[in-house]
Amino acid sequence: MTLCLAATNSAVHAQPAGVASSATVRQTLSLDEGWRFHLGDIARDSFAGGQGVNLYGPDITYHGAKAGSAWGAAARGYDDTGWKRVDLPHDWVVEQPFDEKALKQQGYRPRGIAWYRRTFALPASDRGKNIELQFDGVATHCTVYVNGTEVRHSFSGYASFQIDVTPMMRYGDGAVNTIAVRVDAEDTEGWWYEGGGIYRHAWLVKRSPVHIATDGVYANPVKAADGGWMIPAEVTLANTGAGVASATVDVGVFDAAGRRIAGARSAPVRIDAQGNAVAKVAVPVAAPRLWSVESPTLYTVRTTVLRDDSPLDSVDTSVGFRTIRFDVHKGFFLNGQPLKLKGTSNHQDHAGVGVAVPDSLWDFRLRKLKEMGSNAYRTAHNPPAKELLDAADRLGMLVMDETRHFNASPEYLEQLRWLVRRDRNHPSVILWSLFNEEGLEVNEEGMEIARVMNAVVKQLDTTRPTTGAQNKGQLGPDGKVNPKNAAHSLDVVGINYQAEDYERIRAAYPDKPIVSSEDTSQVMTRGEYTTDWAKVVASYDDVYPGWAATSSARGAWEAIARQPSFAGGFAWTGFAYRGEPTPYGWPSASSHFGALDLCGFPKTEFYVRQALWVTDKPVLTLVPHWNWAGKEGQPVKVLAATNADTVALYLNGKLIEEKKADPFQMVTWQVPYAPGRLEAVGKKAGREVARFAVETTGEPVALRLTPDRKAISGDGRDAVPVTVEAIDAQGRPVPTANLAVALELGGPGAIIGVGNGDPNSHEPEKGNKVTIFNGLAQVILQSRRAGSGSLALRAASAGLKPSEITIAVRAVPALPSVPVVAE
Ligand code: GAL
Repeated sequence: MTLCLAATNSAVHAQPAGVASSATVRQTLSLDEGWRFHLGDIARDSFAGGQGVNLYGPDITYHGAKAGSAWGAAARGYDDTGWKRVDLPHDWVVEQPFDEKALKQQGYRPRGIAWYRRTFALPASDRGKNIELQFDGVATHCTVYVNGTEVRHSFSGYASFQIDVTPMMRYGDGAVNTIAVRVDAEDTEGWWYEGGGIYRHAWLVKRSPVHIATDGVYANPVKAADGGWMIPAEVTLANTGAGVASATVDVGVFDAAGRRIAGARSAPVRIDAQGNAVAKVAVPVAAPRLWSVESPTLYTVRTTVLRDDSPLDSVDTSVGFRTIRFDVHKGFFLNGQPLKLKGTSNHQDHAGVGVAVPDSLWDFRLRKLKEMGSNAYRTAHNPPAKELLDAADRLGMLVMDETRHFNASPEYLEQLRWLVRRDRNHPSVILWSLFNEEGLEVNEEGMEIARVMNAVVKQLDTTRPTTGAQNKGQLGPDGKVNPKNAAHSLDVVGINYQAEDYERIRAAYPDKPIVSSEDTSQVMTRGEYTTDWAKVVASYDDVYPGWAATSSARGAWEAIARQPSFAGGFAWTGFAYRGEPTPYGWPSASSHFGALDLCGFPKTEFYVRQALWVTDKPVLTLVPHWNWAGKEGQPVKVLAATNADTVALYLNGKLIEEKKADPFQMVTWQVPYAPGRLEAVGKKAGREVARFAVETTGEPVALRLTPDRKAISGDGRDAVPVTVEAIDAQGRPVPTANLAVALELGGPGAIIGVGNGDPNSHEPEKGNKVTIFNGLAQVILQSRRAGSGSLALRAASAGLKPSEITIAVRAVPALPSVPVVAE
């Protein structure tokens, strides 16, 4: 089977002039600022609803059962003045001390239950509007109360949810609205660090009663057989007003310069009161520039709801024009060109911030992966933050978008529908992944669950195939096709590991495209080159758990590359993550997986993958460092990560040996250690193409701070990682430095987290201290809202020259937000 597909995304980047500016007709207001937070549950026996006389004394079950009269911390008027003030995104679990008795898989940190409260006012002029409360992600489970009424249970730490709170709102002078959220993070949904709290953004949207439903725009460009492009837009309209409504929808397509390059208007649509209706309009687009990994051109689709030609509501969606195709014999094609998916699987936590990842850190992380030569990202094993997909659209990264639960019951199908509706406009998204390594994937039950889930996806999007990350069951005991397993219900067979069975699975599914949905699972600790089985793994790309069985990142990729029909693979993992501390437990609190550590500092696997994946320029890096005082004369294993044909290795100018480099396994030597300069010269067809050297450094004499970017926006959101290194007298970073560093920050911002990528570190990730681990540490700075001027970061360590840098903070228009008012 060959699937021929095309598609897009949703976010606002360009600000086109057009039918209506979306700001004039709807307000999307941030609710991130000014929450009150209480760690621990709160007994429900307090009557604090401010509802008047409590006739029932301490027995509040009567009141608590009534709308508007929730009890305890859920009540309006509950006294939360002693609670801590926090801003979202917020992960309280990352603030907790490590505890050997806490859940190992979740990273040895206590989880627990907590409460959040937030108050706000609405002017009388908002009466009559539709008011929706939106949470992008709350881990793990939660109950939301609005003005003392229970309005939502969420049993997903990964799905966004929206609540139409219009009928519960209070308006005008002195009226206060209260949101209370009880979060239960005792529950877990995965075997990795999931954090706890309102860890993604929250919003309040004010819009016309006749409006575009949330995630209601489907504007996915498709290429017709005649080569022309079309956006067959489907816009779901909702009407929360009193009577039947009629509206038309204008769909305009704008280029990056804000020019309307195409557009069309739907026929009038009737929407019942409290009902929905879908307006359809096909918009031909002449000769758009294509979206690709190298050149991710985006357009904006502005969807405007009109009544008698006046705009009622408007939403901007960013889209890209590209085709995708998974071919049974030739793998993946983007815009008609073959493209092997050089992918990584990733969880969603980062050093210092846990799962409360600032939007700009998604850019940072994707940029690091692209630098490694990666072009694809798997959101293991759950829906990502929408800002990650926006970044993938902007930067040109293909995404395998995975749902959390393999479950065909109504509640979980609803989560799947939400995922597809939210993400089906992103040009980056190329595959829907319906599960990962499920026990039932091997049998009829799994085949049926997958069949239902696949059908649900197809109702909403036929342009991208489905897959499942299956580590068993595709084959029967005879090594031939297993007639009943989940793979039969999916478009693309996903193989986790099982490299020894690639050929057999290929033969067993002659009509289906195949992708390695997961492979590698290489473990290594950044900057360590000797394995100590109590806690660290040598960084030579040769230690792996039994199930990985392809020996190394090099072996895993070689096996995939040798299958021309495979679309590519998704290595476990791009970034290290907390929890699942493979191969050890305590004291390791995070895994030793990852081509990059928890901060995004490259490990050996990063350089190995660069050598495997980057094809347009020479790659040559040597590991390890060359600081082995005390080992003089003893052999040190040296690995050249390279795509050169041969590498000549010199120590202090003297040729050690020139060797042929295997394109997958590369090349290693045993070099008797002598301090100085170890230099490699890489050649292709006999000509020098690359040179790389490591040098024995002196003792650290100073610190060096290097920000990822020199300027950030003063919006209270933008965040920048800063690298902390110790350097010797010649300014060379000392790769063996392990030093305590004190930090001081001045200016309109804050240190929101620190880290060093050491899986065994039990140091706090909040505060103004960090320890350099094997030469590197990271400090993450975030601007203050309405900030301008500059941040001055100073780092000091005993006996070393301190370092100071400034980062410009650009004044930017404040993100519209909902002010906090006192209750
Ligand atoms: C896989 C699994 C991942 C992770 C990995 C560790 O089997 O899908 O979630 O556990 O193993 O190697």
